[in-house]
Amino acid sequence: MIEVAAACGIPRIYTMEISRNLFEESRRNLANFPQVECLWGLSVDKHEAAEFIQQDPLLRERGPEPDIYIDFLPDPVAGYLRELEGALGGDEGLAPPDRLLQTLVPSFVDRRPLFCLDSAGGVGLLEYQTVRRLLGRNPFIVWIDDVNHVKHYRSLLDLQSDPAASHVSLNWDEGWGVALVNG
Ligand SMILES: C[S@@+](CC[C@H](N)C(=O)[O-])C[C@H]1O[C@@H](n2cnc3c(N)ncnc32)[C@H](O)[C@@H]1O
Repeated sequence: MIEVAAACGIPRIYTMEISRNLFEESRRNLANFPQVECLWGLSVDKHEAAEFIQQDPLLRERGPEPDIYIDFLPDPVAGYLRELEGALGGDEGLAPPDRLLQTLVPSFVDRRPLFCLDSAGGVGLLEYQTVRRLLGRNPFIVWIDDVNHVKHYRSLLDLQSDPAASHVSLNWDEGWGVALVNG
């Protein structure tokens, strides 16, 4: 990814991680890449994210269809809420900043940014919607991971039905999709 970004002339890469421990680990791992800036915090608004997870019909009323992955069964709502607290890195109880996308994206809206979205399953769609809202009619590129998962199954459907999204490529077996959104 870093090599591809360098070859494409992408000057700066930001990563976001809610777990303080995992953030520290990624910062150590990426220390040799000065163009990468690791940020600690939640990509979206914390209260909006919690409400989104609690209200999501796909988590509340799981039926046989669509046949997609959901983590933390039999209680995905509780599991995804814990992930929002940094539980995957074992560091619950801290108070990380939130709304990192809202803070960062407005400075880049007119530079056709590339977004790689691969965070918690419970807020994948919210993160995708947040990016779309912040970009408005500005063009951007989006890569979404886990399209066969509650994380980005609906983001993919949205891209596939959106006339503003062109060059939608999909690898269902590996579970990712990428699209150019023309705004
Ligand atoms: C599916 S993993 C992906 C990690 C990384 N992309 C990789 O491939 O190794 C999701 C990670 O994002 C973190 N996370 C989940 N939701 C987040 C959010 N809304 N903002 C920031 N970090 C989040 C989790 O703590 C977890 O470490």
